Amino acid sequence: MTESAHEALRIVLGSGLPERDEAIARLIASGRSSLAFILGDEACRYRLLARAINWDRVLIAYRGPTVLGYAAFKHHRRGPFSPGFGPFRDEFGRLRGGARYLLFIITECREWYYGFYLYGLRVIKPARHQGVATALLTETFGQARQAGYDRVELEVQVKNQNAQQLYTQQGFVRVRTTPVNWLGRLLPFPAVVNMRRTLKPQP
Ligand SMILES: CC(C)(COP(=O)(O)OP(=O)(O)OC[C@H]1O[C@@H](n2cnc3c(N)ncnc32)[C@H](O)[C@@H]1OP(=O)(O)O)[C@@H](O)C(=O)NCCC(=O)NCCS
Repeated sequence: MTESAHEALRIVLGSGLPERDEAIARLIASGRSSLAFILGDEACRYRLLARAINWDRVLIAYRGPTVLGYAAFKHHRRGPFSPGFGPFRDEFGRLRGGARYLLFIITECREWYYGFYLYGLRVIKPARHQGVATALLTETFGQARQAGYDRVELEVQVKNQNAQQLYTQQGFVRVRTTPVNWLGRLLPFPAVVNMRRTLKPQP
């Protein structure tokens, strides 16, 4: 066993970090792969989103100095990213950048009817199956309670059975499957399962 495997897992709110860490920003911006047709590949998502991270909407898991994963969430209409039009224009030009920016804003608006929404969850491959996501979710529930919510909601792709198993184990129940809707007929949005976890009040 390596030395770092003995170190305790720590979950930290991004806004509490002493300084911005580029590697963490890269990891967080690597999410949203289902929106690759709007936001481009991983390198492109980094250029569009990494400078626009709302660090108070991100929990980061560490073991020692190593970042193992993150959970990102949204509430009060503020999620983990608030990019302006500028990076989209620089990346794709005024017209195509404008269209992609508009689509991104539409996808963000679509989630606004959720109260507390789990926006993203990712654990690096070498750290999987060690309870990191479970710990991130436990801390996310704490953030939701603190913000005054009694439930956490999420969307997970129908084909992502691994994540669905994790969420079920963590007390989420399936609310409905959202089939590909009118927007999805025009654009390659994946079908998603909506899940909900009710939070018991803290004793
Ligand atoms: C899904 C993901 C976050 C799980 O992270 P993790 O740290 O490995 O999860 P945990 O160790 O806390 O797993 C807890 C439980 O969830 C379930 N689970 C997690 N990963 C699983 C997998 N690949 N296959 C089946 N069940 C899985 C298991 O029941 C597991 O318990 P066990 O380890 O005792 O079998 C991780 O695989 C990941 O980052 N995947 C890519 C990104 C992704 O799909 N995110 C979800 C988007 S909605």
